[in-house]
Amino acid sequence: MTEQHDAVDIIRTKRDRGELTPEQIDWVIDAYTRGVVADEQMSSLAMAILLNGMTRPEIARWTAAMIASGERMDFSGLSRPTSDKHSTGGVGDKITLPLAPLVAVFDVAVPQLSGRGLGHTGGTLDKLESIPGWQADLTNDAMLAQLEDVGAVICAAGAGLAPADKKLYALRDVTGTVEAIPLIASSIMSKKIAEGTGALVLDVKVGSGAFMKTREDASELARTMVDLGTDAGVNTVALITDMSVPLGLTAGNALEVRESVEVLSGGGPQDVVDLTVALADEMTRAAGQEVGADELRAALSDGRAMDVWRRMISAQGGDPDADLPTAAETETITADADGHLEHVDALAVGVAAWRLGAGRARKEDPVQAGAGVELHVRPGERVSAGQPLMTLHTDTPERFARAQESLAGAWRISDAAPAQREVVLDRITAREA
Ligand code: URA
Repeated sequence: MTEQHDAVDIIRTKRDRGELTPEQIDWVIDAYTRGVVADEQMSSLAMAILLNGMTRPEIARWTAAMIASGERMDFSGLSRPTSDKHSTGGVGDKITLPLAPLVAVFDVAVPQLSGRGLGHTGGTLDKLESIPGWQADLTNDAMLAQLEDVGAVICAAGAGLAPADKKLYALRDVTGTVEAIPLIASSIMSKKIAEGTGALVLDVKVGSGAFMKTREDASELARTMVDLGTDAGVNTVALITDMSVPLGLTAGNALEVRESVEVLSGGGPQDVVDLTVALADEMTRAAGQEVGADELRAALSDGRAMDVWRRMISAQGGDPDADLPTAAETETITADADGHLEHVDALAVGVAAWRLGAGRARKEDPVQAGAGVELHVRPGERVSAGQPLMTLHTDTPERFARAQESLAGAWRISDAAPAQREVVLDRITAREA
């Protein structure tokens, strides 16, 4: 086959801050997927994009080309509208677990195609796999049947959605080009648009435990993704949310499932409940249902969301009544002074949980279901010297020392009570046409 473009020309164009043509973009994504454009050429182009950016039409075309590399799902045959959520990832971010069943209570179907964790942020599938019997892999038909019957499904994204992204994401991971905002936005949105959801709520995290460390970068990523979704006909809205401290009191697979079940039982930490309700409010509204925060909170307290959770877990072979795995060993860290716990750094807690065995360094590594970090005190609360601050959990106690290293200097106790922390910092919606 004669190739219509030359990879080196395309790299030079972006290196010299030029704009790629739609045909160049279509070709380079397709040729990379076919193996005609080599990894070293694509990594060079990705670096040029990281350094020089992309225009809005370039990002839209890049996303469309990645969607075209694979299959598109179709939920239009379901009897109810669909609404999905994507989080850019954070420490202790277990929100999908209570959120999907809560939204399904209100006749909105939630297709959550999720992934496994890499690095310090946990993966939703790893968390759910700590429930005895639960299976992540479903056929498309089984997924559609569960969406119709239960209203919510959290399962592994099949290999058929945006295969170009799978290959490119793996390359970016080893070439220092993950952080390019046009590439993150097109990577996330190609999968969400191909999945076929009618509405999408993006939780763009900002802070030490997130991809985006500054409000400016988080806003740019959110705006780029909202524009991409809107242009593709998906009703898309983004919340920018705080990830400077961990979400809730737990980071680690079974620990986070336990906390999610507390939320579904009407309890759980305030920030987890507040963010679950804020995202459910957006998801239901984006799907055309006016439910409101009070009714959503009621569905967490009165067992309606728990009923859907139990059916959702059972439908995938899980036993919602089974005891969750616990780690073989624990070690507790205590406060060294009286005062207020002013801050607990999200990244440090995420890295500690990862080092304890909750996360993986390479995608083929196993994870420990019971490993992780459990906080006993929320930032802002009073503590006394000697009071337990957090407990580290692992099956492999030789990991404690490295986890403790990551936590050294990661929290502050001060005399004054810190200001109240808001979880939702901003809301980004489609631009007026
Ligand atoms: N998540 C994705 O799916 N892609 C990225 O590029 C970054 C985070």
